[in-house]
Amino acid sequence: MSSPPIVVVGSFVQDLFFDTPSFPRPGQTVIGRFRTGPGGKGSNQAVAAARAGGTTAFVGALGFDAFADGAKEFLTAEGVQHHVTAKSEHATGTAAILVDATGQNQIVVALGANDAILPAELPAELIAGARIVVSQLEIFLPTALEALRIAKVGGATTILNPAPMRADFDPAMLELTDMLVPNETEFAALVNMMPRFGRSDFSEEELAALEPAALHAMCRRLGPGIVLVTLGARGCFLSLPDRCVTIPSVTGIKVVDTTGAGDAFVGAFAAGFVEFEGDAERAARFANAAAAISVTRPGTAPAVAKRSEIDAMLATMK
Ligand code: RIB
Repeated sequence: MSSPPIVVVGSFVQDLFFDTPSFPRPGQTVIGRFRTGPGGKGSNQAVAAARAGGTTAFVGALGFDAFADGAKEFLTAEGVQHHVTAKSEHATGTAAILVDATGQNQIVVALGANDAILPAELPAELIAGARIVVSQLEIFLPTALEALRIAKVGGATTILNPAPMRADFDPAMLELTDMLVPNETEFAALVNMMPRFGRSDFSEEELAALEPAALHAMCRRLGPGIVLVTLGARGCFLSLPDRCVTIPSVTGIKVVDTTGAGDAFVGAFAAGFVEFEGDAERAARFANAAAAISVTRPGTAPAVAKRSEIDAMLATMK
């Protein structure tokens, strides 16, 4: 089995969206609007990498239901090779996603089959032969860990997007991670769970107030050689072994739905890193543009930017 340069090991989730004027308070019912589409952090990132120009495979698990059929059709239509384990005892993953009038979201994800994929079910040869292997925390965690281990043994570069952050996250995963891509929430959680920082109260607000040199120093202490922190509307921060750079967000866009913007970023970053031969800063700028495009449209994977759109966006930023 020959491997494509990018392999994403992660989740497929059917996204069930509820658009609401405002998020309901506990005990409150609000009238909203429903839509659905393919999602899941792993699948979204694979689609983002493929649309950005990278030849990509997705490895994950699905149930035996209509959502699983739709997932396979969608990935095929997107040109993403897929290696999915069918789990007859489990439903395909689903997510209830509330999106308010400002485009912000709240998500509850039911992992279903994603939580049942076992390390032994991974296509080791495919993963080991990739140039970049990407994973997240939305599948059975020992399987995500094993994917990174296989990738490292095979000589691939590994990207970990520690999302969603979980109480059972094992920081040992960072030892198998070459490039870590957390958002602000995940970064703060990592700092609080790693004894080397001696903190339990580090917050997103404190992160936002840090000078670049201080944030760079914290990134260096996390372990992975490259740490790329996504900062939402403030862009992203890239910490390399010898320097750091803050990349501001794209301005002048109308935010419709921020759901999946992080996935659009990670997938495009992986594709850019391969295409730009390891130039992480160029790949981060490319990913920043891809994420900006994704928030201007509703949905997750279907909202992901195509390569021509990313190039056009970057051209306007020169
Ligand atoms: O990152 C966004 C994704 O997270 C959604 O597609 C949803 O499925 C959840 O897994």
